[in-house]
Amino acid sequence: MSGSRRIENISLIGFMGTGKSSVARIVAAHLHFAFVDTDELIEARAGRPIAEIFAQAGEPVFRHIEKQAVAELARLKRTVIATGGGLAAQEGNLASLKEHSLVVCLWASPEMILDRVRHQSHRPLLHDPDPMARIRVLLAAREPFYRQADVLLNTEMRSAKEVAQHVIHQYHTAVSGPKTK
Ligand code: S3P
Repeated sequence: MSGSRRIENISLIGFMGTGKSSVARIVAAHLHFAFVDTDELIEARAGRPIAEIFAQAGEPVFRHIEKQAVAELARLKRTVIATGGGLAAQEGNLASLKEHSLVVCLWASPEMILDRVRHQSHRPLLHDPDPMARIRVLLAAREPFYRQADVLLNTEMRSAKEVAQHVIHQYHTAVSGPKTK
């Protein structure tokens, strides 16, 4: 990574159900960083749950509020940021995160993702008669963006704690350079 990067924060990107929020909370606690979840920021700004924003105003309005939230993140320091699954795939958002964060993408296969989100109902994009097909289509469209993260971490066969340890290691390496012993 270039020595000129300003890395004040850690941003976790990746598909729904890859464990971004759980991992971000663990990393934040370990590093004594603050924790921010962009979905929570959006809900606070809009004064209603994400499912309601999608249902009443539509996805473009959600993405607009999301982009405003991304701009606000640039002021943060010593914060672990968990992002919504589609955030990094929207024009300009990833570049904005990279201006102040080490960007880590959490990855999982479509099968694992479906297994993890199957019993949750708060994600409007997965309210689909064929959620597996929906996951495959969305994941394929987003993969080129996710691959632009500084670090890509497979979360399969790893607990949230293990994934968090990898994130912390990558962060230390990024801010202080690899140990040369
Ligand atoms: C979305 C993912 C959700 C939330 C919204 C849209 C997406 O966040 O931002 O429902 O486009 O993948 P999580 O990844 O935290 O579920």
